[in-house]
Amino acid sequence: MPIEVKNIHKKLGKNIILADASIEIADGDRAAIVGPTGCGKSTFLNLLSGLDRPDSGMIKIDETVITKCRQNQLARIRADKIGFVFQSYYLQPHLTVLENVKIPSFVSKKTTPAEYDKRARHLLELVGLKDKIHAIPSVLSGGETQRVAIARALINYPKYIFADEPTGSLDRAAAQNVLDIITGLQERFGCTLLIVTHDPFVAGQMRRRITIDNGRLINAD
Ligand SMILES: Nc1ncnc2c1ncn2[C@@H]1O[C@H](COP(=O)(O)OP(=O)(O)OP(=O)(O)O)[C@@H](O)[C@H]1O
Ligand SMILES: [Mg+2]
Repeated sequence: MPIEVKNIHKKLGKNIILADASIEIADGDRAAIVGPTGCGKSTFLNLLSGLDRPDSGMIKIDETVITKCRQNQLARIRADKIGFVFQSYYLQPHLTVLENVKIPSFVSKKTTPAEYDKRARHLLELVGLKDKIHAIPSVLSGGETQRVAIARALINYPKYIFADEPTGSLDRAAAQNVLDIITGLQERFGCTLLIVTHDPFVAGQMRRRITIDNGRLINAD
């Protein structure tokens, strides 16, 4: 399996967040990670993307056992293969929308600056922000800001899109719009999508649901 998680354990402070947790995720899958607040959804996504490490156990992403990787290897895998949409968007306030979308290219250099510029403009068009490319983040609505964060996560055409509550602060119509954009881009680029969500309406639109119960990852249906 392209994503394999085997027997991982993770403690944060005194809290056991994940205990003997295992799951497999196929290429092109579209899964929701659901469960009550504090159950470990963000922690799990951070472990999967190498932003954090488990105390023990194995995580394999796309044939690479990331739990054995050094920090610099992890940074490269993250930059090349993973588009991460954070729970808080972290746009740079002094950069324009277009510049924000190009931020990952400063690290990654998978292609030329001209190609990155073309991609960024194209992605912003796909998420409906063609007219806002030179705006700064402070003038954007929540939904627009979230769409910039999505375009930024896709700039390297990642194989994996991991999104932590991408619709959490949006109303239903804006949430559906963002979701349609993410799933549309997923189909277009053939990537694997994992979305953390509290919202059954969002979870219901994924192919499968994974929950965290007493530290274990469980297929919810
Ligand atoms: N650095 C830390 N030290 C101790 N406990 C922590 C630390 N970071 C997070 N936790 C705890 O770990 C648990 C899991 O946190 P996590 O952020 O993964 O939950 P979550 O499922 O994403 O919640 P939410 O739905 O509210 O975003 C929570 O109980 C949280 O309080
Ligand atoms: Mg969270």
